[in-house]
Amino acid sequence: MTPRTSLASWKKLVAHAKDMKQQHMSELFDNDRARFDEFSIKLSPFMLDYSKNLISKETIKNLVALAKECDVEGWREKMFNGERINYTEDRAVLHTALRDRSNKPIYIDGKLISDHVQNALMQMKDFTEQVRSGLWKGYSGKRITDVVNIGVGGSNLGPQMVTEALKQYSDNNINVHYVSNVDGTQIANVLRPLNPERVLFIISSKTFTTTETMTNAKTAMNWLVASSFDQSAIAQHFVAVSSNKKNATEFGIAPANIFDMWDWVGGRFSLWSAIGLPIALNLGFERFIELLEGAHEIDNHFCSAPLEKNAPVILALLSVWNCTFLGARSQAILPYDQSLHMLSAYLQQAEMESNGKSVTMKGDKITYPTVPSIWGELGINGQHAFYQYLHQSNNIIPADFIGSVESVTPVQGHHETLMANFFAQTQALMQGVNEEQVKADLKAKGRTPDYINKVAPHKVHQGNRPTNSILMKRISPRSLGSLIALYEQKIFVQGIILQICSFDQWGVELGKGLAIKIQAELESKSVNAAHDSSTAGLISFYHECKYG
Ligand code: F6P
Repeated sequence: MTPRTSLASWKKLVAHAKDMKQQHMSELFDNDRARFDEFSIKLSPFMLDYSKNLISKETIKNLVALAKECDVEGWREKMFNGERINYTEDRAVLHTALRDRSNKPIYIDGKLISDHVQNALMQMKDFTEQVRSGLWKGYSGKRITDVVNIGVGGSNLGPQMVTEALKQYSDNNINVHYVSNVDGTQIANVLRPLNPERVLFIISSKTFTTTETMTNAKTAMNWLVASSFDQSAIAQHFVAVSSNKKNATEFGIAPANIFDMWDWVGGRFSLWSAIGLPIALNLGFERFIELLEGAHEIDNHFCSAPLEKNAPVILALLSVWNCTFLGARSQAILPYDQSLHMLSAYLQQAEMESNGKSVTMKGDKITYPTVPSIWGELGINGQHAFYQYLHQSNNIIPADFIGSVESVTPVQGHHETLMANFFAQTQALMQGVNEEQVKADLKAKGRTPDYINKVAPHKVHQGNRPTNSILMKRISPRSLGSLIALYEQKIFVQGIILQICSFDQWGVELGKGLAIKIQAELESKSVNAAHDSSTAGLISFYHECKYG
C-alpha cells in the first residue's frame, strides 16, 4: 500500500493547508454570498451545514481527490459486499445488512446472511410482542413491567443512548433500565425499587466473557433466585444476546432465550441487531423498524451520492482536514437537544475505539495525526462550563452542533431560546471579534480610555473556529437512525483515508489482562513483587486501609 503521505492529493493538501491557515472564515463569508449553498447538504431527516469550516472550493476539491486516491468508493463496495475488511480479525463488516430494508439477498463468502437477519428480526418481534402484551409472565404469573439490560460498551451505549433519545415515543408499557458498571452501586440502585416477579433481564454480551457484565449478571441471578427460591424461575426472567451460545448456556440462560449475534457485527455497531432488544421492548417493534429504516436511508445516500455531496464522506474529510492537516487534536459534540444527552458518550466509543490507533491496516507506524479525542456535553450546559475555552484558548477545537427545528417536547418560549444559542454560538466561533471592534464597542458604551486599554485584549475572540451544524427536522426513531448511520459511515471513511483498521479494538486488551491478575492479588491480600513501585504501592495501601 502506498503510504498516504506519498499521494499527490495528500501533498497538495499539505501545501494548501499552509495557504488556508492565513485565511479567516469571516472574510471567506464576506467574499462569497453563496457559501452556505455551496457547503451544505439537505437530506430528508436533517441538513448538514459545513460552511463554517476553514475551507474553500479548492479544499473540497483536494479532499475529494484524496478520497478518490484512497479508493473510498472501492472500500465502500467491499464493505457492502461482505468482504473481510476487518483485516486483523479476518471478518466481514456488515452491520448495514441488519438495517437493509430492500429485501435484496446479502452474502458473505457466498453464504446467504440476509435470511438469518430476517429470522432474528422475527424472533425479536415475537418476543417483544409477548412481553409487551403481558403474555410472557414472570415466575409468579405476573406480567413483566421492567427490563434491566446488563451489558457494557457497544452492548450498552447504543441502546441506552437511543432509549434516552426516544423517551417521548415510549408508551411506558415497559420501563427499561441499564446496568453497565461493575461498581455494585449501579446495580444495587437499579434493583432496589424493582419487584423481582416483574423484572426481565437481558444479558447483552457479544463475547459472553466480559468480566464486568458477567459479574453483574451473576448478581442479578442471585437476586432473582433469592426471591423465587427456585432456579427454574431463571428461564422466565433471563434472556441473552450473544454470539457465544456455549458460554451463555453454561451461564444458565435457556437456549430458547438466546438471541443470536454474528462476528460480522462489531460491538459498537450492534444496536441494529438484537442488542437493540431493550429499544424494541420500550418503544414497540414498529418503532425499532423505523430506526432501521432511517439508517438504511443514509446507507443509500452514502452509496449513491457523489463524494462532494455525500454527507458522511464530507464529515470524514473535514475531520481529516481539521485534525491531520490543520492540527486540531480534539473534537466536541454539542447537542442542543436534551434527548441527545448521551450522544457524545456514544460517539466517543464509536470513533475513538474504531480509529484511535497508530499503525496502518498492514501494521506500519502512522506518521501523521489521526483522529481527535471526542468529548462533549449538551450545548447549553457546555456554554456555562467550557465554551470559554472553545472561544478563547490557544487550542482550536472543531465542534459538531446538533439540534432540532421542532422540539419533541414543546414548552412555550423555550425552543427559540435554545436554538438562538445554537446559531449564535456557531456564528461567534466563526466570526470572533477583533480588538478594534471591541474598543469601538467599549467607547460607544462610554468607558474610559484606561478601562478600554486594560480590558480590550481580554474581550478579543479570534474566531475562525470550525463547526458543523446538523439541523434535524425533529428527533424521531427514523431521523435518529439516520443520524447514527451518518456518524457510523463517517467513521468508516475516516478509517479508510487514515489507513486504519476501524473494526478491531486491540487497545482494550492489555488493561483487561492485567486487571484479572491484580484482582487475584486483591482477593488474596497479596502484592506481586514484580509490579512497578507505583502499582505495588497502590495495592499495598489498599490492603493496609482495608485490612489494617
Ligand atoms: O472492551 C471493549 C469491548 O470489547 C467493546 O468493543 C465492546 O463493545 C464491549 O467491550 C463489550 O463487549 P461484549 O459485548 O463482548 O461484552
